[in-house]
Amino acid sequence: MGVIQDHLSALVLGSATETLHGAIPDGDMPRDQVLATQDQRHGDYQSNLAFRLAKLVRRPPRALAGAIVEAFPRDPALARLEVAGPGFVNITLDDRWLGEQLLGLVADPHLGVPQSGRNKLVVIDYGSPNVAKRMHVGHLRSTIIGNALVGLHRASGFRVIGDNHLGDWGTQFGKLIVAWRTWGSEDAFRQDPLEELQRLYVKFDQEARRDPAMDENARVETARLQAGDAQNRELWRRFVRASMQEFQKVYERLGVRFDAMLGESFYQDQLNRLLEDLLRDKVAIVDDGALIIPFDESDGKGLSRTPMLVRKRDGAALYATTDLATIRYREAQWSPDRILYVTDTRQQLHFRQLFAAARKLRLTPAELIHVWFGVLTLPEGSMSSRRGNVVRLVDLLDEAVRRARQVVDQKSPHLSESERAEIAETVGVSAVKYADLSQNPQSNVTFHWDRMLSLDGDTAPFLLYSLARCRSIQRKAGGAAQWDAEKARLLPGHPLERDLVLALCRYPEALRSALNASRPNTLCEYLFGLAGTFNRFYGCLPVLKAESVSRSRRLMLVGATAQVLSAGLGVLGLGTLERM
Ligand code: ARG
Repeated sequence: MGVIQDHLSALVLGSATETLHGAIPDGDMPRDQVLATQDQRHGDYQSNLAFRLAKLVRRPPRALAGAIVEAFPRDPALARLEVAGPGFVNITLDDRWLGEQLLGLVADPHLGVPQSGRNKLVVIDYGSPNVAKRMHVGHLRSTIIGNALVGLHRASGFRVIGDNHLGDWGTQFGKLIVAWRTWGSEDAFRQDPLEELQRLYVKFDQEARRDPAMDENARVETARLQAGDAQNRELWRRFVRASMQEFQKVYERLGVRFDAMLGESFYQDQLNRLLEDLLRDKVAIVDDGALIIPFDESDGKGLSRTPMLVRKRDGAALYATTDLATIRYREAQWSPDRILYVTDTRQQLHFRQLFAAARKLRLTPAELIHVWFGVLTLPEGSMSSRRGNVVRLVDLLDEAVRRARQVVDQKSPHLSESERAEIAETVGVSAVKYADLSQNPQSNVTFHWDRMLSLDGDTAPFLLYSLARCRSIQRKAGGAAQWDAEKARLLPGHPLERDLVLALCRYPEALRSALNASRPNTLCEYLFGLAGTFNRFYGCLPVLKAESVSRSRRLMLVGATAQVLSAGLGVLGLGTLERM
């Protein structure tokens, strides 16, 4: 079984080519856009190709649409074709054919998802908090969205290396070293290392504002650290280790596991060679004592005004320098086909420069993609006063779980204490993740407790609940129904069953479009729609009490829904529950 959209696109294009007898050279043929319709009255899918062609051949779109329908090949997928409105082609799929598609889908270990990443490797650079600094909610988003992108790629057959590019090098350490030697407390550090580092960091900033000599001291300590000074190295190692332990707690709660954690420090001894090569290849030039990579407009719009600084006048390398070395390392080590970076919107210019520089340097043939996201605002006043640091992220999860627990206690008092605790953990953490993932990453997101924990809305609890409902039906039926081709032939049955069959068959389409646009929210939208379709089906039609043939057919549909829901939730990195 393939992607329905592709099958229909090919048919529409074929027919259009036939109609126009080569009036448009193959290469200029617009890419077709057969899209699922929102409204059943427009059929199951709709093509707007006639509009795109009309401009090219100067014919009215409606007449063209008519001609396309006339020339349409016979195909078992089709039940009905119709010209609609000013020139749409509405396509209604054949019931029997749809049933067969679903049969193919449930039998496929990939659930019909095209394996476009077979034999391909992608590096996904995500999470990447700055060590010994506050891990802000931006890093939470990077972790959640990055992890969903890992899932989307794996589901599409890619081999994935998720790499946490820790900010574990740089000027913050000089500051911390100075502050530690001046005000540091062993006791406080032992009790809560990140809190103590945070305190020192803030204290340093305050003092430095009064006394500029502080900044100079910090610069000297950073330079000593980078030159390998043993005492500074030791402190640095302590700070890094302590932060990592804190980060690890967040990752564990979120169920995120990285395949590599090569932070900025890892690349430091590769920077000099890189800078030499940049000079030798004349990609970088000396400018007022500093080393820069200049661009022209052909490298990217606006880039000619913003050269990339790779070495400061004092000889220090920068974030960008490390990123170039990182690309070189990844290429040598893994030769990836694609590298994705997941950060907040503020780094857009950095990555445009970086990618342009990597092209100039021919560092890698990999496709380089920056997935950026907007600001996330947490609910007011619901957590401890420690603002923005890593502890607060754990607090956020705790609060979500606490609130989920209240709902579980109320709705399911009959379950055991440990069951309720487990459900609350999954529901709470999933609710946080889903509230983030279900928005277009590029828009700003605000968390609202009530909305994200609600059982009937576009929420994780609603999806988890729908899946748990499928599971409970299966338990009552004495196990998952076996698919058999005989009964599947009786699909789709009732119109509400047909809706469900069609929704299920669209899973590969939804997953692919989420992958291609790096937008997990597309998959969320799909799953939400599917769960709604399932609930309408289940709300109106008997399943367990239906008579024999309908009963087994409907049980098969319940099983398929469970399969697709749990696969989709898994791709997004959300937990699932057998009961709720
Ligand atoms: N540590 C950076 C920050 O917190 C993000 C790093 C993103 N990855 C990269 N290769 N630059 O802003």
